[in-house]
Amino acid sequence: MPIVTPFEMLKKAYEGKYAIGAFNVNNMEIIQGITEAAAEVRAPLILQVSAGARRYAKHVYLMKLIEAAVEDTDLPICIHLDHGESFEICKACIDGGFTSVMIDGSKLSFEDNIKLTRQVVEYAHDRGVAVEGELGRLAGIEDDINVSQEESSYTRPEEVQEFVERTGVDSLAIAIGTSHGAYKFKPGQKPQLRFDILEKIEKLLPGFPIVLHGASSVIPEYVNTINEYGGRMPDAIGIPEEMLRKAASMAVCKINIDSDLRLAMTAGIRKYLAEHPDHFDPRQYLKMGRDNIRKLVKHKIISVLGCDNKV
Ligand code: G3H
Ligand code: 13P
Ligand code: ZN
Repeated sequence: MPIVTPFEMLKKAYEGKYAIGAFNVNNMEIIQGITEAAAEVRAPLILQVSAGARRYAKHVYLMKLIEAAVEDTDLPICIHLDHGESFEICKACIDGGFTSVMIDGSKLSFEDNIKLTRQVVEYAHDRGVAVEGELGRLAGIEDDINVSQEESSYTRPEEVQEFVERTGVDSLAIAIGTSHGAYKFKPGQKPQLRFDILEKIEKLLPGFPIVLHGASSVIPEYVNTINEYGGRMPDAIGIPEEMLRKAASMAVCKINIDSDLRLAMTAGIRKYLAEHPDHFDPRQYLKMGRDNIRKLVKHKIISVLGCDNKV
């Protein structure tokens, strides 16, 4: 099976009222942990690569590792650029074999966002590649950019139809109260998402796949393990799993998860090194990180996304 585009998997997810997991990847162990879990439960996958991941591991390494995962698992896997900020990075990823790109013009004016997104769509569609756009602005940290709560803004439902029509995007990321990183809500704050906005968008764009970024649940087990074995993470609150299940049963067809992978991997490595202070073989501790990622992704697929047995 070659690397696939996301068109078919998102369409099926919409109709089947589930979501595809879009997991961020940065190295071999993360790719193996995710794809081994998906292979066990026969789930389609989107593996996404940020600008930071391309700088860290290099485009060609990630591309080849994902090709290896496709060969190893025979799963339908889409390779997607996460938060492309310019036409140039989208073009480089399309030319370099990605089957989907996100152009994130969410910090631009409505008109400038449309203009940039349209430019990427024209280039991508001529080459059979899918495009995700974004309207509204999430709080949190992406790469080196930190968007404060005050700078963030919910998606305005009255803008979505015009944006989708004028740009020709294939999916749309919206802001309904999720945010990037491990610290989504303040300690004591009750997590809330604006399902009313999602419902309005769903009615305005029937059948159109919506994307939820910033969707890690920040599972306490991993934060506690990190702190138990020498970490010093402050209280971290993520998106409750039942809210993600609800979103997946609605128009949300792609759910982005990165922070939970980071926490799972770090917890596994910290525990191993603390329990074996004399060990120094990277394979031993990286394996524990990879095992944790596999367990986490299996849980997400079965209990949160509902995309198991969809291959
Ligand atoms: O949305 C951002 C993702 O978590 C990627 O993070 O830019 O640090 O690779 P990164
Ligand atoms: P989290 O930080 O909640 O994992 O979000 C990841 C994301 O949205 C990647 O685009
Ligand atoms: Zn994101």
